[in-house]
Amino acid sequence: MESFDVDPLPERLVARLRRAQRVVVFTGAGVSAESGIPTFRDALTGLWQRFDPMALATPEAFEADPALVWGWYEWRRMQVLRAQPNPAHRAIAELANRVPQLTLITQNVDDLHERAGSPAVIHLHGSLQAPRCFHCARPFAELAEPLEPEQGRALAPPRCRHCGGPVRPGVVWFGECLPERALSEAFAAAEQCDLLLSVGTSGLVYPAAQIPALALRAGACVVHVNPQPQALGGAAEFNLAGLAGERLPALLRAAFG
Ligand code: OAD
Repeated sequence: MESFDVDPLPERLVARLRRAQRVVVFTGAGVSAESGIPTFRDALTGLWQRFDPMALATPEAFEADPALVWGWYEWRRMQVLRAQPNPAHRAIAELANRVPQLTLITQNVDDLHERAGSPAVIHLHGSLQAPRCFHCARPFAELAEPLEPEQGRALAPPRCRHCGGPVRPGVVWFGECLPERALSEAFAAAEQCDLLLSVGTSGLVYPAAQIPALALRAGACVVHVNPQPQALGGAAEFNLAGLAGERLPALLRAAFG
């Protein structure tokens, strides 16, 4: 595996991107970090360094204290509404115009890829914008402008119009299954691609974390874009060490001018 943290980018990596027919971009929280959205596991700033995931991101936590959980997700939804896509989101949207086929798979629950112009994003972990009833699972369409909840301030969830149950965030919690169709589309795309860019993910949460390894095993080249080098142990594996908002635009410039 090779690491590159200085320009110019090696020609063989650039050439692989230029001739790739099927590209997968797989993103995690790091792609939105430069938009001001906190990641989960970065030291000091990561959400799971400051909050207990078992008290906020499980069905049991919601049953025990729906207002605490709803308030925390409304705080996160408000952060996203106020944020803007950054150069990494925009470079990924632009890359789709430069290669014959691009599949964008994200673990993120924000909509910054869509707002940067990427259509048809596969959301493996759901979305902050798609709440549903905790009891009958019907979508809840009347999400209000979020108040100004401070982090951790309790806020009673709205009630379902159909059954009166509490409305929950439309995200995947620990202990829950990923959306089946999204996961199978993501696995299929990873197994069929020539090149996979893994951007801003620690690769610690399964089953999503299998995706780069699946691509590597199927013969694709895997490029990690992350300040922390990642290693799956493959021969066709590269590290572009650094911030996604800098490294991705530089990669596009090198490959396509
Ligand atoms: P993590 O917080 O685990 O990892 C974020 C990664 O982004 C780290 O490897 C950082 O080094 C990297 N990073 C930080 N800033 C960056 C930048 N500007 N450019 C590029 N990389 C940067 O986030 P995820 O891997 O997304 O699950 O976490 C996976 C899942 O764990 C999340 O989807 C969430 C969480 O529990 C659910 O919500 C279900």
